[in-house]
Amino acid sequence: MTKDKGMAVGVGGHERLINGQGLEVEGKITDAVVITCIVAASGGLIFGYDIGISGGVTTMEPFLQKFFPSILKNAAGAKTNVYCVYDSQVLTAFTSSLYVAGLAASLGASRLTAAQGRRNVMVLGGFTFLAGAAINGGAQTIAMLILGRILLGFGVGFTNQATPVYLSEVAPPKWRGAFNTGFQFFIGIGVVAANCLNYGAARLEWGWRLSLGLAVVPAAIMIIGALLISDTPSSLVERGKLEKAKKSLAKIRGKETDIEVELADLVKSSEIAKAMNREPFLTIFERQYRPHLVMSIAIPFFQQLSGINIIAFYAPVLFQSLGFGNDSALIGAIILGLVNLASILVSTAVVDRYGRRLLFIEGGAQMFICQVAVAFVVAAAAGTSGTRHISKEYGASIVALMCAYAAGFGWSWGPLSWLIPSEIFPVKIRTTGQSISVAVNFATTFILSQTFLTMLCHFKYGAFLFYAGWIAVMTIFIVFFMPETKGIPMNSMHQVWEKHWFWRRFVTVQP
Ligand code: BGC
Repeated sequence: MTKDKGMAVGVGGHERLINGQGLEVEGKITDAVVITCIVAASGGLIFGYDIGISGGVTTMEPFLQKFFPSILKNAAGAKTNVYCVYDSQVLTAFTSSLYVAGLAASLGASRLTAAQGRRNVMVLGGFTFLAGAAINGGAQTIAMLILGRILLGFGVGFTNQATPVYLSEVAPPKWRGAFNTGFQFFIGIGVVAANCLNYGAARLEWGWRLSLGLAVVPAAIMIIGALLISDTPSSLVERGKLEKAKKSLAKIRGKETDIEVELADLVKSSEIAKAMNREPFLTIFERQYRPHLVMSIAIPFFQQLSGINIIAFYAPVLFQSLGFGNDSALIGAIILGLVNLASILVSTAVVDRYGRRLLFIEGGAQMFICQVAVAFVVAAAAGTSGTRHISKEYGASIVALMCAYAAGFGWSWGPLSWLIPSEIFPVKIRTTGQSISVAVNFATTFILSQTFLTMLCHFKYGAFLFYAGWIAVMTIFIVFFMPETKGIPMNSMHQVWEKHWFWRRFVTVQP
């Protein structure tokens, strides 16, 4: 048996992890690491809650009446065309103001997370979100609403930047993928919880206040959680807190575990990082980090171009055609949310056993087929003018296709878009890489949500084919350019690029 550097090596049915120096890294699953990661992953709650709440609130009449009365008038006039009912720039601008704020915050969080630690930035994100939620719940004017939304944006910008990195650094390398999927799982829980709440709140005149204001609950949960955990060993070493790092590592790896090899690895990476002492936003543009940079931009960009948020938005309109009446929109959203949640667990089980590539490729193929099929069924059902009433049979097949699509996303591009950028970077530019990734995710979400409704109104069912085209492109991209990262300790990750047929020309081989 050859001992490959930084690889998972098969020994009598067990896999051992060997670091870059050819030494074995311990990495059992302990109770402490499981609890720590569940608590940390709850950082996903606030993002999910907001995604779920904002869609529902912006369809509540009393909310529109108070803040956007012109939309109600337009909607009444446009009801005949299923493709154009929701085409309103003002409303989407309100929803997506969060993404612009989040984008700025995530870029700023790069330095903050490096200097103050991952945990502290999660706490900060939680408090900022909490303040935004309180302002939104009590909003009297549009200005308050927007201010609240900006604070919520800062909150998710900080949290989405720090949490995935936290999870990847704390998890045992062999199970890093599974632990990291916890973040997407909590996003999913947030979405479903918000949808259920909207379902009840929609009946109340002041329901929108309840939905917006109760965002303080997921924020409080994650703040308390983050206050209970310590920072990652990697971040503590980087910040010169060696004793604390040792304690934190001993706690999460278990008392009987020899943590010396892992600690030495962390110290070595941190020393290399310190010796460089260059602005990380410049370092990341060096030729040797081209593969990392490309991935941290391409993966979140493609994740959004899979059309996930678009499907989530359009689903309620189609579900209405099933005859659920006024509740249909919210019921539809809950069904999709539950399918999504269950499928994330599939990813948790598979991602470290069969790898990231398999999930990316299978999920991509499944989403492609579903988007193409949705386009054809919608065309057949609503007609090219979008004025025909969608029958129950067509409605049912659209729901089934959308569920299959949501499942494909849930076990591939959903969780993996948070995992990959958080695990591929060397420690000196890790937080910067994650910042860029979150910023790209938010920027793309913003642009797509601003343009989709107009696109749907003009391209009609062809809008779904547009996304299908992108899914084909991104799946081919993975086949050729994404190396497998499963089981590789993060400090030995450089070797996946050194061995890759394309990327090896960019990276400098490390001893
Ligand atoms: C995406 C969000 C999406 C959510 C759905 C996340 O990974 O970044 O844009 O709304 O998954 O659950």
